[in-house]
Amino acid sequence: MAEPIRVLVTGAAGQIAYSLLYSIANGDVFGKDQPVVLMLLDIPPMLPVLDGVVMELQDCALPLLKEVIPTDQEEVAFKDLDAAILVGSMPRKDGMERKDLLKANVAIFKSQGAALDKYAKKTVKVLVVGNPANTNCLIAAKSAPSIPKENFSCLTRLDHNRACSQVASRCGVPADKVKNVIIWGNHSSTQYPDVHHCVVNVQGSVKPAFDVVKDDDWLKGSFIATVQQRGAAVIKARKLSSAMSAAKAICDHMRNIWMGTAEGEFISMGVYSSGNTYGVPDDLIYSFPVTIKDKTWKIVDALTINDFSRARMDATAAELVEERDAATSFLSA
Ligand SMILES: NC(=O)c1ccc[n+]([C@@H]2O[C@H](COP(=O)([O-])OP(=O)(O)OC[C@H]3O[C@@H](n4cnc5c(N)ncnc54)[C@H](O)[C@@H]3O)[C@@H](O)[C@H]2O)c1
Ligand SMILES: *[C@@H]1O[C@H](CO)[C@@H](O)[C@H](O)[C@H]1NC(C)=O
Ligand SMILES: *[C@@H]1O[C@H](CO)[C@@H](O)[C@H](O)[C@H]1NC(C)=O
Repeated sequence: MAEPIRVLVTGAAGQIAYSLLYSIANGDVFGKDQPVVLMLLDIPPMLPVLDGVVMELQDCALPLLKEVIPTDQEEVAFKDLDAAILVGSMPRKDGMERKDLLKANVAIFKSQGAALDKYAKKTVKVLVVGNPANTNCLIAAKSAPSIPKENFSCLTRLDHNRACSQVASRCGVPADKVKNVIIWGNHSSTQYPDVHHCVVNVQGSVKPAFDVVKDDDWLKGSFIATVQQRGAAVIKARKLSSAMSAAKAICDHMRNIWMGTAEGEFISMGVYSSGNTYGVPDDLIYSFPVTIKDKTWKIVDALTINDFSRARMDATAAELVEERDAATSFLSA
């Protein structure tokens, strides 16, 4: 048996964590022969709830789960981490202004970034889920100068999976027959779900999504709107935000970081932008198409971008620039 790896989940008493922890402890993310120690961080008032989660994890009787450490202390939670999944963040409360919400989240991710810097392994892989995920991720990365910025990413895989599933059901094929959709930009309603490079495998023959769907109006219209608005639609129906599907997307994202992506396939994740790649401003966490090998991602290069796509990629970038500038002003304050 390999040495156990140490995996942190924050917001561990919340609803996404409740759907996520079993999969991690069962080996669905880091491998069926990789033991794990689970570090579970939440805020002090949630510690009694967290104790219940710990009991349930024990009651699952999972052979790979070596230890579970519930805590409200960053110096305990971030110690010697191999992977960190930052789910907890400040939720929007009634009457709270956008600016105050952002300020509260900057404080959380500055502190957690500094804790990563101080206590975690330098090779730690950090996935930020708590919203605003892109900007929280950027703040955490900036607050952990001794860890490479490339080791920070944010979750847009749920949007990616939503897009795959919409195309698959339209084509009448299983979801895994749809590959290479792209989510560009922010994890918000300005994200751009792009199917210009998407392919669909119909009974063994791989074709462009546009040729299989044969409905450009749908692909350029209500498909995009459905994916962009899906989070809001789930909240409206469930009175709670997506949790089962978010947990599944977290598993997909982390498994790809750990194990790599399949040959010829790319996935979407929010990563640090530099070098003006695809004309995206530098110093943002922006969702790009990436391939992953040896725990290192690479943005898929030389995809052709038409005017339709360009305008949407720029709009979501502009939103992130504005949010970054507001957030970094709080960082230095
Ligand atoms: N990026 C995505 O695709 C995506 C998808 C769904 C949800 N989300 C976001 O994920 C976050 C969690 O969602 P949820 O449904 O599990 O929420 P939840 O309210 O059920 O749970 C959040 C938990 O985080 C804890 N928490 C708050 N501040 C913390 C801190 N500083 N340190 C540690 N824990 C802290 C809370 O006490 C709570 O237990 C939200 O921000 C949500 O918007 C992101
Ligand atoms: C970017 O997306 C996040 C969701 O992750 C959202 O909370 C935030 O408001 C968006 N940014 C802007 C500037 O709209
Ligand atoms: C994380 O950083 C290490 C160097 O410490 C690097 O080798 C690795 O490729 C990075 N991981 C990712 C996901 O980019």
